[in-house]
Amino acid sequence: MARELQHDVVILGAGLAGLRAAVEISRRLPGRVDIGIVSKVQLMRAHSVCAEGGTAAVLRTDLGDSRELHAWDTVKGSDFLADQDVVRTFVDTIPTEIHRLDHWGIPWTRDEDGYIAQRPFGGHSYPRATLAADKTGFFEMQTLYDQLQRYRSFSRYDELFVTDILVDGGSFAGLVGLHAGSGETVVIRGKALLIASGGGGTLYGFTTYSQTVTGDGMAMAYRAGLPLEDMEFLQFHPTGLVPNGILMTEACRGEGGYLRNNRGERFMEAYAPKLMELAPRDMVSRAETEEILAGRGFPASDGGDYLELDLTHLGADRINTRLPLIREVTIKFLGLDPIERPIPIRPVAHYSMGGIETDITGRTRVAGIWAAGEAACVSLHGANRLGSNSTAECLVWGGIAGADIAAALPGLPAAAPLPAGAVEAAEDRVGGVLARGGTENLYELRRQLRATMDARVGVFRTGDDLAAALASIREIRRRAAQAPVADKSRVYNSNLVHALELDNLVDLAEVTVAGALAREESRGAHARRDHPTRDDERWLAHTLAFQAVDGPRFEHKPVTIDMWRPVERKY
Ligand code: FUM
Repeated sequence: MARELQHDVVILGAGLAGLRAAVEISRRLPGRVDIGIVSKVQLMRAHSVCAEGGTAAVLRTDLGDSRELHAWDTVKGSDFLADQDVVRTFVDTIPTEIHRLDHWGIPWTRDEDGYIAQRPFGGHSYPRATLAADKTGFFEMQTLYDQLQRYRSFSRYDELFVTDILVDGGSFAGLVGLHAGSGETVVIRGKALLIASGGGGTLYGFTTYSQTVTGDGMAMAYRAGLPLEDMEFLQFHPTGLVPNGILMTEACRGEGGYLRNNRGERFMEAYAPKLMELAPRDMVSRAETEEILAGRGFPASDGGDYLELDLTHLGADRINTRLPLIREVTIKFLGLDPIERPIPIRPVAHYSMGGIETDITGRTRVAGIWAAGEAACVSLHGANRLGSNSTAECLVWGGIAGADIAAALPGLPAAAPLPAGAVEAAEDRVGGVLARGGTENLYELRRQLRATMDARVGVFRTGDDLAAALASIREIRRRAAQAPVADKSRVYNSNLVHALELDNLVDLAEVTVAGALAREESRGAHARRDHPTRDDERWLAHTLAFQAVDGPRFEHKPVTIDMWRPVERKY
């Protein structure tokens, strides 16, 4: 028998977008709203705490920055797939968010005159990445959670793994999940749901994401009938620590770090002579891959190759004050002090540009469901996100979606009735996973899925590789039905959660790869060797993936272009 809970608003995911929305709803409806915040992890363990380098915002118009410039950088960086009305809303809103966090007590790093400090980031034509050392996400999260505690408006459901989003008659009806500590099935109903559960980067083995980030919200939304947008665009960050993938923030290059090949050359000279190491991520990742393929990398212990991120010329002071986390991590994990030696790096899976389709207010096609942050695709980043625009997006659309939910709430009907048999079906699915037999190994299948994505759906893609990857993913789905869960208990059953996560990853992998195979062009982070140029005639359009019996069914929708027509992207 499931335990049933009820709130006005349910927020799925307790990272930056979710917390920002919770604060916004609470401050707009003080004493008049009841929010349930659901997370598969403990609250301050959401992956947002790992965001390092900064949050982009125009603060110094007195020194030459402008919102128009930020908008242009974002549109050009997106390879013209960003919706330009969305970009304008973004650049107009984020400065207020930065100042709001300042008033709420965040310890922004300051310059020598006491102004909030900013540093250069790739593809931005002004240094506008606003920082709290190299722990920006952690301090943003902490500040938002502090703020939220001013309101008695919320209940937390930590370590609750949601398995299903229930929709009835086109409206949100509830969530079904498994509470780790009690082993109970929990149903949470509400008038409104905000999905803010993050991206899907553990599709890959070499990734910057925490192992808990498995795209659950996106996969559940897809199964509930919502389209996923632009999922073929997966960002590779140029500097993942070799061999474990930990993010070596772009701030390393923003602070003046160099990238070098095995000849000691700053190879970016050959690829982006003006911006060098601070070209957009898609370009730097491609340049690194070309260098490695040309034999100009160093052999790595994991069998791959690496290039060097050289900070040695920055000096101890700068590294200790602006990049303390980088130093701590490289010393802890590799015994390497970046003050003395270059850091081994290569491109690493980092961010989903795609996600659950929303409009500019964060609304989805299902009444009562909003989405924000990396789980969503409001179409801000298009085919390639600029560094430091992601924490910014979480703040902006956490705030916008929160405000929209608060405004809509009085007019929303009570939670739609639970669809007949839906909770039982969700329980049966989980029960079936727990009870299943067979000879496959769940963890081996997860490893194979990630190895497939690493090998065939990387920085460069080909139709043949993508077709082979799609076949492997479908084979993994078939075999996963024969992979038993070793732990048969209900309480803190991480084996069971891993099995359910694998189902989510397989769904997302299928959408990602099928979308990449269909898109016969190169744009932003989607670089096809067999279709090496951008094709605006055929492909200046967003991809929408709907779940169908045999895999995703694709539709397309136009890009909003109301300021800048696409031009060749040169840096
Ligand atoms: O490099 C970084 O600090 C990452 C920032 C981002 O993805 O926006």
